[in-house]
Amino acid sequence: MRAVLALILMTTPALAQEAADAVAPEQATGLVRETPEPVTSDNWMVVAANPLASEAGAKVLRAGGSAADAMVAVQVTLGLVEPQSSGLGGGAFLVWYDAETGEITTLDGRETAPMAATPTLFQKDGEPMGFFDAVVGGLSVGTPGTPMLLEEAHRRWGRANWSGLFDEAIGLAEDGFSVSPRLAALVAEDEEFLSVAPATADYFMPGGSAIAEGDTLTNAAYAETLRAIAARGADAFYHGEVAEGIVATVRGAAQPGVLSLEDLDAYEVVERPAVCAPYRGAEVCGMGPPSSGALTVGQILALLEPYELAAMGPDSPDAWRLIGDASRLAFADRGRYMADTDYVPVPRLLDPDYLAGRAELLEGDDSLPEVSPGMPPWDHAALDLGDDASIELPSTSHISIVDADGNALSMTTTIENGFGSRLLAPGGFLLNNELTDFSFSTHDEGSPIANRVEPGKRPRSSMSPTIVMEDGAPVFVVGSPGGSRIIGYVAKTIVAHMDWGMDPQAAVALPNLVNRFGTYDLEDGTAATDLQGPLEELGFEVNVRDLTSGLHAIAVRDGTLIGGADPRREGLAIGE
Ligand code: GLY
Repeated sequence: MRAVLALILMTTPALAQEAADAVAPEQATGLVRETPEPVTSDNWMVVAANPLASEAGAKVLRAGGSAADAMVAVQVTLGLVEPQSSGLGGGAFLVWYDAETGEITTLDGRETAPMAATPTLFQKDGEPMGFFDAVVGGLSVGTPGTPMLLEEAHRRWGRANWSGLFDEAIGLAEDGFSVSPRLAALVAEDEEFLSVAPATADYFMPGGSAIAEGDTLTNAAYAETLRAIAARGADAFYHGEVAEGIVATVRGAAQPGVLSLEDLDAYEVVERPAVCAPYRGAEVCGMGPPSSGALTVGQILALLEPYELAAMGPDSPDAWRLIGDASRLAFADRGRYMADTDYVPVPRLLDPDYLAGRAELLEGDDSLPEVSPGMPPWDHAALDLGDDASIELPSTSHISIVDADGNALSMTTTIENGFGSRLLAPGGFLLNNELTDFSFSTHDEGSPIANRVEPGKRPRSSMSPTIVMEDGAPVFVVGSPGGSRIIGYVAKTIVAHMDWGMDPQAAVALPNLVNRFGTYDLEDGTAATDLQGPLEELGFEVNVRDLTSGLHAIAVRDGTLIGGADPRREGLAIGE
C-alpha cells in the first residue's frame, strides 16, 4: 500500500498534491483500493473498454494519427467487440481540446426522435408503457448519430487517411475476434430479449446456443458496412442499402417504430459550446444539453466547493453526506429543467449566486430530509415545468485519448440499454433504444415535462464526457458508462483525483457511492459498505448493489500522461 500511496503522491497535479498531503495515511487505507500502477507515457495515450479497441486506437496513434483519428478506429472496433454498448446504430457526445488553438468544444451526435414521433410515443391507453415493453423493438429507435460524428470529428481534426481507420475492425470482423467474458455473460443474461428478433438471435445465439467466452465470432455484414463507409463516408450509412436496411428493420419489428429514410437523410451533428464549471481553481468542461452531464456534474462540484473535502478524506461519512446531498440537489434540478435546448429553454443552472444559495442547504450535520428543485435564474420567461421520471439503465462506453500533439478527446458513446433495441440491422450492427431516455409521461400534475418526446428532438442524456482544464490546458480527461449513475461516477472520480490526490487508476477504482434521488447506493463487495451504518445514522436510506462503472481517465501532468481503466469492466489503457 505504501508504494501505491507514494505513486499517488508522485503523479498528482499540484492542486491535488496539496489535498493528498491533507489526507492522513490511516484514512487512505480504508476505502482506497490497492491498484496496479497506472500506465504512464510521455507521448500519447488511449483508454477504451476493450483491449482490441484500445489496440486499434494505439496503432493509429503510433503511426502519428490524431486523437480524432484514433477515436474512429476505437469506435468501429468497439461496435464489433463490445456491440452491447455502442456502435454505428447509436449516438455519442465528444469533447475536444485543440492543442493548436487552445480551445475546447463539443460535438453532439445524439440520436433524434423521428419526425413521426409524438409526445405519447411510449403510452398505451393513456398510460406510460413498462420500460422494457418500450425498449425492445422498433419504437425506441432514434436516428443514429455516431457514423456522422465519426466523419465530422475526422473532417475537423483528423490527419490520417479516413479509409485506413477501418482496416483493423474490418480485419477482426472478417477473421473473427475472441468473445470476451463480459460479452458472453451479458448475452447469457439477455437471451429472452435477444430472441425477439430472428437476426439478433442468429448472431448472438447461433444454432440456439449463446456465444461463449473465447468463441471466435465473425461479422461479415459489419465488415461490408465498414468497407462502404471507409470508401464513401457517412453517406454510405445514411443513404442507400444500409439506410434502407435500418428502416426496414425498425418498421418490420414485432413492435414497429416510425423511423424513416427522411429522418436518416435529415440527420445532423451539432457543434455546441462546452459547458464549464469552476472547481478548486480548475474548469470542469463537458457536454451541455441535450446531455444533463456537464450541468449536473458541474452543479454537484459547485455545491461541494465551499466544503473542505480534502481535509475530510475519502473515509469520512461527512464527506459522503456532502457528496450525496449535493448530488440529490443537482438531480432535482436535472429532473425538472434539463432537456434538449433546441426545444426547451433551460435556466442558468450554473449561476454562481444560485449555487451558493443551494450550497448553504448542506451546512447541517445530517442528510437533507427533503430535496426539491431550486429556482434558478432564467434568461427566458420562467417556465412552469413538471418533474421527469425517465428511467436510464446502465449501458454505454467511454473513450479517453490524448495524442502526441496534446489534443485531448473525451467521448461517451451508446446504444442506450445493453444490446439497445435488440434489433440487429442487416448491416451487422445493433440499433439503439435511445428514445426511451425521453420521459414516457408528457405532464406532471398538469405541468409539461421538459424532456417529453417531440419530433426531431434529442432525448436527455446523462453521458458526461469531461475534460478538466487548468491554466487553459487539459489536466484530466474522464467519462464513464452507467445510465444516470454516470454523473455520480464521474463526480466521484474528479473528487478522488482533485481533492484526495489519487492517480487516475486509484481514482477510477475507488468504490462507487452514488445518490441520485435519495437512496444512497453503495458498491457491493467493497469497503464502501463500511459506510452503510454511518450513512444510515446521518439519515440516508442505503442500498448495497453492483455499481459497474466503466471509468476511463487520463491525467496530464508536466508532459506525462497517466492513465487508468476501470477494473470493473474490460478496459485497457495503452500509452507509449
Ligand atoms: N442512454 C444513456 C445516456 O444517454 O445517458
